[in-house]
Amino acid sequence: MKILITGVAGFIGHAVASRLSGHGYEIIGIDNLNDYYDVALKYARLEDLEKYSDVNFERLDISDRHGMESLFIKHGFNRVIHLAAQAGVRYSIENPHAYADSNLVGHLNVLEGCRRHAIEHLVFASSSSVYGMNEQVPFKTTDAVDHPVSLYAATKKANELMSHSYSHLYRLPATGLRFFTVYGPWGRPDMAPIKFTRSILEGRPIQVFNNGEMFRDFTYIDDIVEGIANILNIIPKEGEHSKFPDTSTAPWALYNIGHGTPVALMDFIHAIEQATGFKAKCDFQPMQPGDVPQTWADTNAFFEATGYLPKVDVIEGVNNLVNWYRKFYKY
Ligand SMILES: NC(=O)c1ccc[n+]([C@@H]2O[C@H](COP(=O)([O-])OP(=O)(O)OC[C@H]3O[C@@H](n4cnc5c(N)ncnc54)[C@H](O)[C@@H]3O)[C@@H](O)[C@H]2O)c1
Repeated sequence: MKILITGVAGFIGHAVASRLSGHGYEIIGIDNLNDYYDVALKYARLEDLEKYSDVNFERLDISDRHGMESLFIKHGFNRVIHLAAQAGVRYSIENPHAYADSNLVGHLNVLEGCRRHAIEHLVFASSSSVYGMNEQVPFKTTDAVDHPVSLYAATKKANELMSHSYSHLYRLPATGLRFFTVYGPWGRPDMAPIKFTRSILEGRPIQVFNNGEMFRDFTYIDDIVEGIANILNIIPKEGEHSKFPDTSTAPWALYNIGHGTPVALMDFIHAIEQATGFKAKCDFQPMQPGDVPQTWADTNAFFEATGYLPKVDVIEGVNNLVNWYRKFYKY
């Protein structure tokens, strides 16, 4: 079975390709290797994937319409795991067009490829950020999410809507996954877990927003990847997933995939302090525009569909992250 993974040089894409390798799939990974964060880390992830003979890489921008058409024609994929996107909430305030190109045009190109080549199952990344300022926790996929507080969140919600329309019109089986703050080895240097680890190891202050009064449903990378590997084989059928939206009969599904336990930001920082053996110097700051004070995933629906139960708690996960960081960056 041939699988396309978009964003394969990214944090989650690299981990998914590693996990699926050796399981009878032929994997083609694409990425445009943009410099939103340290490109050397993206190259290092690709180098790490070279050990798998069933994973091959092609450099391609998903917003390149003709390039994407050729890719689908050339390979005849069976399934697609679409993870490439312009991520980051804060960056969407400075660079809105990057989000339109990758998350809207790019997502459309993926959908077009899927429908023209009768893909069996599209699994695509959404985000907990779609919940915006929702106060009722835990967040459920049946909650209204019509008031995004960042352009990033708006494009992720748009991805869900666009996918649903393709699923309805062309009977394209599609599953959206709302990821909740993923962390772990090979993690993103623009996200708090890696930023904090680096600064704490270097004895530099860390910026702690909303004076530390934040809760995040931190989810360890291996748990996310296991969830993706499982859901890839659970193909939504027509009329089956009528919970959201109520009247939809499209072969479409949408799930939260998080740990299901909100962790206070200061507790996460304490876990890094313990794992590194250094005390954090906290520079408390007000809330950032586009940010949200808490996230908390209701993962019951995903559990019912896949038997998913996250295994790694913050203490173990942060330990693994810090060990990887020290080794990779030679600290
Ligand atoms: N990491 C998280 O906590 C988190 C949370 C919610 C949602 N997500 C979503 O999960 C997906 C993967 O996130 P990640 O953390 O691995 O991010 P990442 O930035 O590490 O990976 C995304 C990869 O996609 C590539 N990419 C971006 N635009 C592209 C384009 N136009 N064409 C080709 N490649 C392109 C990037 O170069 C990068 O390697 C994204 O869709 C993201 O929005 C991640």
